[in-house]
Amino acid sequence: LDNGLLKTPPMGWMAWERFRCDIDCSDDPENCISETLFRDMADRLAEDGWKELGYEYVIIDDCWMSRLRDEQGKLQPEPSRFPGGIGKLARYIHDRGLKLGIYADMGTHTCMGFPGTTLDKIELDAQTFASWGVDYLKFDSCYSNPLEQMLGYPLMSKALNATGRPIAYSCSWPVYVGGLPPAVNYSLLGEICHLWRNYYDIQDSWDSLQGIVEWFSNNQDDLQPASGPGRWNDPDMLIIGNFGLSVDQARSQMALWAIMAAPLIMSNDLRNLGNIERAILQNKVAIAINQDPLGIQGRRLLQEKSRIEVYWRPLSHSASALVFLSRRTDMPYLYHTSLAKLNYDAGNYEAYDVFTGSTVRGLNATSEFTLSINPSGVVMWYVYPEKDAVMILNL
Ligand code: DGJ
Repeated sequence: LDNGLLKTPPMGWMAWERFRCDIDCSDDPENCISETLFRDMADRLAEDGWKELGYEYVIIDDCWMSRLRDEQGKLQPEPSRFPGGIGKLARYIHDRGLKLGIYADMGTHTCMGFPGTTLDKIELDAQTFASWGVDYLKFDSCYSNPLEQMLGYPLMSKALNATGRPIAYSCSWPVYVGGLPPAVNYSLLGEICHLWRNYYDIQDSWDSLQGIVEWFSNNQDDLQPASGPGRWNDPDMLIIGNFGLSVDQARSQMALWAIMAAPLIMSNDLRNLGNIERAILQNKVAIAINQDPLGIQGRRLLQEKSRIEVYWRPLSHSASALVFLSRRTDMPYLYHTSLAKLNYDAGNYEAYDVFTGSTVRGLNATSEFTLSINPSGVVMWYVYPEKDAVMILNL
């Protein structure tokens, strides 16, 4: 949606993958879906160096609502878990220089059974969110059908616009109709939404992550052109810092999400994060690649028989990013290639290795090089013409 918002993919934190629908605040007060959880995460984002790197949205997912709308038909938060209300939480978050996201569902109920936004409630709910100071809406679509979705998603876009408040709009519509054309009209989505979920929910595992990357790559001819400034594909949350990924796999997620111009929305416990995982999520060059102002989504270039895959993304200043991913399960693999084999023009280049911080100098397009790639790990390069080296150093 071209209204000046989300010129680069959104960055922030979302509750769902890590905290799900934990509403048991008596036995699990620290982790249940409550205003405390969101205040805690806002504190961490503001105090632990995240905000400065661009991580700015704190996004509430399902299970924040009361089981019933109020007497005027408005959505309301569950009072025992959000005693201060959403407006007050929004102020707390804004006071820290951050933005608040919220969740609703185009349908009769949210996926977890809380009140849905039927067609007749769309304007009211948009106004309610704006009145609370919400900055981002994730609009899910359990308990609905394709006809309602076709009416409801554009209607919500209009209703949000009509509030006069800039609200980023994330649409789950594609997931519910299979994710691909012709059932999904990506040019329409690009006109009405800032981002959209294309595929199934990520779970806390490498298997789930690989399945997502595989689906996005297999369908890149349909998906890649749909993306650009103000309109992003969303392969779902970053799960780095949870239980399911090794350190190599965590680097792989960061690298691939940067190539895919994906939202960098973490779902983890920022209060308990390992130093290695924190460093991966706070890697400045990986973030700069993700946030490149050209906003061109990358692609899978090659799938080798050796189960090495090469991903590539063009970036501003004639730079580019390369990710070499190993889908092997044995030992570090020695991969031999050259930039010419990866479609680079003749010339001299340098490469900055994003996760080791070393620079490879004197690379001619035709010079062969060898990389060692760990099983389920990556090597990620930021590549630029040698003549631009001085400028690039300021990155
Ligand atoms: C399905 C969505 O895809 C998830 O990200 C999450 O929002 C759940 N619904 C919540 O019920």
